[in-house]
Amino acid sequence: MRDVFATGGMILNESLLWEKGKKGRKAMDIAESDVPAAVVDPEIAGSGPDFPDLGEVDIVRHYTRLSQWNFGVDTGMYPLGSCTMKYNPKINDKIAATPALASAHPMLSDDLCQGTLFMMYELQRFLAEITGLDAVSLQPAAGAHGELTGMLIFSAYHKSRGSRRTKILIPDTAHGTNPASAALCGLYPVPVKSGPDGVIDPKVVADLMDTETAGIMVTNPNTLGLFEENITEIAEIIHKRGGLVYADGANMNAVMGIVDMKKCGVDILHLNLHKTFSTPHGGGGPGAGPVCVVRRLEKFLPVPRVVKKRRTYSLEADQPYSVGRIHAFHGNFGILVRAYSYIRLMGAENLKRVSQLAVLNANYIKEKLKDDLHLPYDRPCMHECVFSDQNQHDAKVSTLDMAKRLMDYGYHPPTIYFPLVVGGAIMIEPTETESKDELDLFIEAFKEIVCEAKENPDILHQAPHITKVKRLDETTAARHPCLTG
Ligand SMILES: Cc1ncc(COP(=O)(O)O)c(C=O)c1O
Repeated sequence: MRDVFATGGMILNESLLWEKGKKGRKAMDIAESDVPAAVVDPEIAGSGPDFPDLGEVDIVRHYTRLSQWNFGVDTGMYPLGSCTMKYNPKINDKIAATPALASAHPMLSDDLCQGTLFMMYELQRFLAEITGLDAVSLQPAAGAHGELTGMLIFSAYHKSRGSRRTKILIPDTAHGTNPASAALCGLYPVPVKSGPDGVIDPKVVADLMDTETAGIMVTNPNTLGLFEENITEIAEIIHKRGGLVYADGANMNAVMGIVDMKKCGVDILHLNLHKTFSTPHGGGGPGAGPVCVVRRLEKFLPVPRVVKKRRTYSLEADQPYSVGRIHAFHGNFGILVRAYSYIRLMGAENLKRVSQLAVLNANYIKEKLKDDLHLPYDRPCMHECVFSDQNQHDAKVSTLDMAKRLMDYGYHPPTIYFPLVVGGAIMIEPTETESKDELDLFIEAFKEIVCEAKENPDILHQAPHITKVKRLDETTAARHPCLTG
């Protein structure tokens, strides 16, 4: 068993830079000015900002120590279900930082940025190929932004046919952002209850689908980590009644090169480049949620679109049916470069292998832990598996206790209490980048925690023990957050 994680950085008390400052310290020497000092009206100059005086070493150590309090994909396994926190190869960051790409001004005329436009055009083509759909917009800045764009397209499509539809079907296993995105477009979310096997029953969809319903929004694979195997039949029902099928494809990590979404009947789908294609999810950084559509919906995509005429690329905005611009300039360009570089470096065969390994790893964990943790849906999963704390109820140990204890073992906790269809859910997404050795260490840690739950539950109730901040009062932390340290 690996030693518990206890870096010096996690236990140090770090004061604010303002508290560290000492008059006269400095981090650089600036040459004496040979320009006569100008007299500035004190009313304009004011007293200057209240910055502390610090040496270089003070600043470097301060930020290095703070960075050690963080946990990231470069620190260790980060099995945060629904977030695909996989290791991202550094080469893609390096390529995104290439000066010609990183410093290309977004207002350059088309003829001066042919390389940039070529890359965007090619990325659109690759994403269309990966999903099976026909046309792509790279503008949306996140998964939820892609959903919003998709719902705008739903509305524009129905409007163009003179039909007014006010509802949308959303399964209880959809990602939480789905109903919010639909509601923002004036579509009332109608819940679809998943069946006892965790997937949608076409009969339930048939009963709910009517001519006031714009269509369905299916997260596939869903948030239970299960593939919606009835998707084709469901799509037929929706299409017969004039609706459209939206797939939340943020979990594409599980099905790349394996599932053709167009053949499944999907009309619109968004991808999370910041989950699947080499940008880490979470952490508040930029993302990209491209939207892919079938040919008949292409005219509704956001403008401007990158088009190719003969051997020249340009941005084209003249599209009367478009839902309009939904992001400034070219979207989050650096994220697009990472995805392009990742796809080019991997190639089609390796992308397929990514999905195969992501699914293999999740199933390995599921099988190894299912005697220790309750497994509500005991069937092959896709890229993530969902347990619950039911087996620990007698010991009065909860999902939260086990998640906090995992931090003492050096792991970022999995996603907990989501999806809502499983009480006390523990959602583990190992991703394809963890080796069998790493998975075995994680499984061993979890098994040990389950033993502790039986033998010494208090150690779990009070976890984490080795972190700088111990167990928080979650309610007070949420209602009265202290943001100043
Ligand atoms: C299935 C699914 N859909 C949508 C989203 C929303 O993506 P974003 O956080 O980029 O808005 C996520 C985020 O993890 C997701 O897992």
